[in-house]
Amino acid sequence: MQRRNLFKYLGASALGLSTSGSILKAMEKEYTGSLAFLKELSGLKDDDFWAGIRSAYSVNPTMINLNNGGVAPSPRVVQEALDYYNRMCNDGPSYYMWRVLDGGREPMRKNMAEIAGCDMEELAFNRNSSEALETIIFGLRLNKGDEVVLTKQDYPNMINAWKQREKRDGIVLKWINFDFPIEDKKKIIDAFSAQFTPRTKVVHITHAINWNGQLLPAREIADVARKNGIEVLVDAAHSFAHFPYKIKDLNCDYFGTSLHKWLSAPIGSGLLYVRKEKIKNLYPLLASADSESTDIRKFESLGTRSLAIEQAIANAIDFYRMIGPERKFDRLFELKTYWTNKVIQHPKVKITSPLSKEFSGAIANVSVLGKKPNELADFIYNDNRIHSVAINWENINSVRITPNVYTSLNDLDKLVESILKLADTKD
Ligand SMILES: Cc1ncc(COP(=O)(O)O)c(C=O)c1O
Repeated sequence: MQRRNLFKYLGASALGLSTSGSILKAMEKEYTGSLAFLKELSGLKDDDFWAGIRSAYSVNPTMINLNNGGVAPSPRVVQEALDYYNRMCNDGPSYYMWRVLDGGREPMRKNMAEIAGCDMEELAFNRNSSEALETIIFGLRLNKGDEVVLTKQDYPNMINAWKQREKRDGIVLKWINFDFPIEDKKKIIDAFSAQFTPRTKVVHITHAINWNGQLLPAREIADVARKNGIEVLVDAAHSFAHFPYKIKDLNCDYFGTSLHKWLSAPIGSGLLYVRKEKIKNLYPLLASADSESTDIRKFESLGTRSLAIEQAIANAIDFYRMIGPERKFDRLFELKTYWTNKVIQHPKVKITSPLSKEFSGAIANVSVLGKKPNELADFIYNDNRIHSVAINWENINSVRITPNVYTSLNDLDKLVESILKLADTKD
């Protein structure tokens, strides 16, 4: 049944795909076995459910990965789908890529639109947030003197793209420098509004700050901006499939995200959203036959690329749906709260991220008095093989800890043990 569904989904059975070689058949068997496992898993309750989710991942037994913010691993079912599609493509690349897997894109766009909360005609697939966001940054029609509002805490690739436009086109960048964490919506909204002038054309909002997980009130900033005729771009690399919201909730014009972060899709997958009426005037980064087309697919003229990666996004969507957006967010928040509560009372430990549900999710940063971020990151790695990342960016200097749905409480107990051990060390 699962197998028939798979082929129906890919539109492939009529093309004789099921007569492929034995390796392909073995991979298909493994893959459909995982699908059946997930179906059973979805009915389990809390502790059993999360233990099941952990076993749905190929968790590395030699290291505790608490840098899921950089890029997330895919659950096994997604890895198997990717391997399977890839093997299929190599049985006859142009045939399987362009006559078989290509057929999966439109059903996948529809499924993606359902979880993203927008029209499927507003979504284009690509390879990562940088590609999605630079499509917007370089595709917008801006003239010399036009102003763009952004922050010093935005992502470097995006800052660099705007700086390139500043140099090339003479646009003017208006910077905000936040002192995070901030758990006051008005303060954040006011900081953006204060930069808006009659020459402001675009506001760049990083929805969840990658450096420390701080969530910004994107909707409220967008409301003020749009009232003033300013276009709104949201960098959702860290918020999509992490926080339970729909793109339409944000009232933005443009939105880009990576799918290899919180959706756990294969590495090298991304998504671009463009509000329907804005598609025509946004130039694609890689030209298509009609750059002024109103068809969102003009942003998908990306040349030859891995359609196995692209197609396995569909499996990540299914996995995400199986958990459910609210249930996932609640678990991530619970994991973050679990470890931060155990270290926050120590006089030498400081949490440098917001901790409320309104402003944070899975991510929290930590520092130990008298220790540099890389000293703390090295210590927890050497002590308990915990992989994290030391952040040294603008005014943010601490270690970022990012669990994911497969992280166990036992993993976090080890983290707590290592942080407290360093904090208790006599200098
Ligand atoms: C806020 C933010 N924007 C953009 C990006 C770029 O993502 P990618 O490297 O997948 O293009 C990242 C990556 O960490 C990010 O955190």
